[in-house]
Amino acid sequence: MSEGVLTAAYIGASVLFILSLSGLSNQETAQRGNWFGIIGMAVAILATVLSESVTGYGVLAVVIVVGGSIGFVLAKRVEMTEMPELVAVLHSFVGLAAVLVGISSFLGAETFNSVAEQVIHEVEIFLGVFIGGVTFTGSIIAFGKLRGSIASKPLMLPARHWLNLGIVIASVVLGVMFSNAEHDSALTYLITMTVLSFLLGMHLVMGIGGADMPVVVSMLNSYSGWAAAATGFMLSNDLLIVVGALVGSSGAILSYIMCRAMNRSFVSVILGGFGQGTSVSSTADDGPKETVSTTADEVAGMLADASEVVIVPGYGMAVAQAQNTVYDITRLLKDKGINVRFGIHPVAGRLPGHMNVLLAEAKVPYDIVLEMDEINEDLPETDVVLVIGANDIVNPGASEDPGSPIYGMPVLEVWKGKTAVVLKRSMATGYAGVDNPLFYKENTRMLFGDARDTMGDVLSALKK
Ligand code: TAP
Repeated sequence: MSEGVLTAAYIGASVLFILSLSGLSNQETAQRGNWFGIIGMAVAILATVLSESVTGYGVLAVVIVVGGSIGFVLAKRVEMTEMPELVAVLHSFVGLAAVLVGISSFLGAETFNSVAEQVIHEVEIFLGVFIGGVTFTGSIIAFGKLRGSIASKPLMLPARHWLNLGIVIASVVLGVMFSNAEHDSALTYLITMTVLSFLLGMHLVMGIGGADMPVVVSMLNSYSGWAAAATGFMLSNDLLIVVGALVGSSGAILSYIMCRAMNRSFVSVILGGFGQGTSVSSTADDGPKETVSTTADEVAGMLADASEVVIVPGYGMAVAQAQNTVYDITRLLKDKGINVRFGIHPVAGRLPGHMNVLLAEAKVPYDIVLEMDEINEDLPETDVVLVIGANDIVNPGASEDPGSPIYGMPVLEVWKGKTAVVLKRSMATGYAGVDNPLFYKENTRMLFGDARDTMGDVLSALKK
């Protein structure tokens, strides 16, 4: 394939990736966005494989078949609730690839037309390996924390910020030594920095509490994009630079949006070391705490008598896979003339858009699925708010109790509805490990049990 055709194919693929991102920003166009991404990636791979720089087709075929098969099987198997873990592991691959490409690019014999060109190439290698190293180990730790194999409590080493800063400064010094050294000692500096970047990635993410992990995964997404862009510079591959920049900046924007939704500071995420431990109790109410339980029949009665119903789904709805039953109830109520809408918190569940995907899967129409800001103002006029497997995102402590660890996080103000019915299995806390004063409010009713079973019982009672 000639250079001209290759460039045209790369431009086409870049446009498809941009269209893909814009499609993914809205649930109605998300499927189309995915297709743009798939076609863009197919064009990119095909054009690269057919380009003049690729010659080892045998090795390439084996690698593509083996890697593609493993990816296909794993992606098919993974549950929706495990998606953040999969994303984290995939980021670690991008990071490791950047490290390996950087080191092999240094080891490969390259000739340069000028000293400036050589220095630029060395900076690309050093930066690419550094960002890749941080992304690699950071993503593995994030994977372990999300999976529960590493404790979600933040590791608070003394002077941890100084430690991080020390590693960054040492890496900069090594970078200067690297660019001034002979080949063999330069390799030693590069490898030393690689080890330091691995330690930094590990330490940065170990220092962050479980409740802040979504932001970390999204930040690592951004890092993996910048690592890919740096690899693109090393390999002089324009498409990789464009794609890396797209991933890097969209990851950063998503992190910013999530930080706002969780009331976290963007800068402290980048620096790491924030997020307090889990299993903390709210300090607002020291008096006796009593909950009022209810039954499926009672809930069915409340719903049948209501004219305005809002459903707030959370992580538990995903675990219980209750979305289809919930939609059956919605349709039944709508047929009775009751206005039923869904309120979605930006970080409900375990990954951005988690609830939207579940509801789309159950074929819930988009026009009754509202964002937190849109639904909050209507909650005081709502007769019944059904909270299905949600906890942190409906915690009044976040807006009423300055002592709460999640104070300041915007939440769905479900307690302002006339009655809030909370469906969960026990009094266990949610992801942030914080007690929820909502359960003890006068107008709250608790319906205990697996959400799919209890929703099924409510559906049967409504049909009677
Ligand atoms: P959580 O606060 O984690 O609460 C989920 C609740 O669902 C739990 O209290 C649990 O109580 C209940 N539950 C679990 N399985 C259930 C089942 N089968 N049936 C009924 N209930 C069940 O979830 P949330 O309110 O959606 O908030 C999300 C949290 O995750 C936030 O803290 C957020 O910061 C964090 N987070 C978000 C993301 C993104 S980007 N969305 C990613 C990672 C973390 P029981 O055990 O008593 O049933």
